[in-house]
Amino acid sequence: MPSPNVYRNFIRGAWVDAASGERFENRNPADASDLIGEFAKSGPEDVERAVSAAWDALDDWRRTPAPRRGEILFRASQRLLERKEDFARDMTREMGKVLKETRGDVQEAIDTGFYAAGEGRRLRGETVPAELPNKFAMSVRAPIGICGLITPWNFPMAIPSWKIFPALICGNTVVIKPATDTPLSVLNFARTLADAGLPPGVVNVVTGTGSSVGEPLLRDPRIRLISFTGSTEVGRTIAVGCAETYKKCSLEMGGKNAMILLEDAGMDLAVEAALWGAFGTTGQRCTATSRAIVHKKVAGQFAEKMVERVKGLRIGNGLDETVEMGPCVRSVASYVDIGKKEGARLLVGGDSLKGSGYDNGYFFEPTIFTDVKAGMRIAREEIFGPVLSIIPVDDLDEAIRVANDVEFGLSGAIFTTDINKAFRAMRDVEVGIFYVNSSTIGAEVQLPFGGVKKTGNGHREAGSQVLDIFSEWKSVYVDFSGRLQKAQIDRAD
Ligand code: UN1
Repeated sequence: MPSPNVYRNFIRGAWVDAASGERFENRNPADASDLIGEFAKSGPEDVERAVSAAWDALDDWRRTPAPRRGEILFRASQRLLERKEDFARDMTREMGKVLKETRGDVQEAIDTGFYAAGEGRRLRGETVPAELPNKFAMSVRAPIGICGLITPWNFPMAIPSWKIFPALICGNTVVIKPATDTPLSVLNFARTLADAGLPPGVVNVVTGTGSSVGEPLLRDPRIRLISFTGSTEVGRTIAVGCAETYKKCSLEMGGKNAMILLEDAGMDLAVEAALWGAFGTTGQRCTATSRAIVHKKVAGQFAEKMVERVKGLRIGNGLDETVEMGPCVRSVASYVDIGKKEGARLLVGGDSLKGSGYDNGYFFEPTIFTDVKAGMRIAREEIFGPVLSIIPVDDLDEAIRVANDVEFGLSGAIFTTDINKAFRAMRDVEVGIFYVNSSTIGAEVQLPFGGVKKTGNGHREAGSQVLDIFSEWKSVYVDFSGRLQKAQIDRAD
């Protein structure tokens, strides 16, 4: 047996074992015999070292002019581009999504890097008039300090990049805990930053579990902010921990995204979009289409076409370029039972795949239920797998009501050729991201990303809005009158 690749934490610019010397294995979900490597099984002591490194690096980094910081980000993005293919392959092995999509994931990190790098020459504040004579007033963005980042496995490089790049351009230092399923993609990312000239300690990676790494991060008083993407349950725990330790907290959590399909829409386009939205990334996106709310006149036709297309999908190891849908990271079987018990009609799928090519991984059939009612659990809870529920409705009003009748509000879509209806849906569907005649997935990095209700806590990543997460506003008054002037007090009336 060849010895496995060993990957270490990245702390203070060096690759270091966990203090305990322990490691955990990372295997390909499409093929358990494919061992990606062994990773540091870290604990509180490793977090302590990483936070100390981030602390020591902070003063120099925050005083580095932002355009200089931006140059490092430009170089890192350029290097990511050069390594795109290798990093995409590592990512497909780590979490299973097909190569086309992992290339997209790395591309999203590249786009984010170039976008954030440009901010190095903007990071705009405001100058406004002061109410007193001979006084100057402005607001500037100040770094927060050390940011603790906790990231998911479904976008192993894109989502870390949404947090790391803006944190850096704003002058913060970072300790990141990647998902246990996808540590390699974050280590690849950190290595690229280091190669681009990022000073030691500015970004530190500590691999391990939520309880042994995430928890101490949450508790450390030197960390001023936690930014988390993941499940709604864990997000709640993090929000409580941040409240207890007075940290700023940005959360990006679940979704139960709906596409509305009206009777006037182009059916083939809608089918294409639903297929991509529901089964792209094996449905493991927070923006996945998990409900199709369809006008009853066309619901039958839509279901028929979807079943036909789903039966033709090639499922397997994402490293095979002809494969369209990879494995599942977590089981979704219980939701099939729930749906059946609730009285929804299973149209296609519903089982894990067995037999040749499937023996060493966990693959689940693309699954579609119809006659789903808005109150059913499969229509309300995030499934995070390849399961689509079709909910027939009478008209647009009902469609919007159903779309909003969930606890989440990340993305949504409408398919219609009636511009009036499109605008009504744009206004009334309660989400942070909305698409007209396109799928519920496919956000671009220069626009804010995030959602309402239990999806988030009021923050937006990406776009220029992400700077509000990773910086503090500082208002600065400069009085050049030579005497003490009193705001609100010194006036004639
Ligand atoms: C996610 O859904 O988990 O909008 C992130 C998209 C991607 C990012 C999705 N750019 O589909």
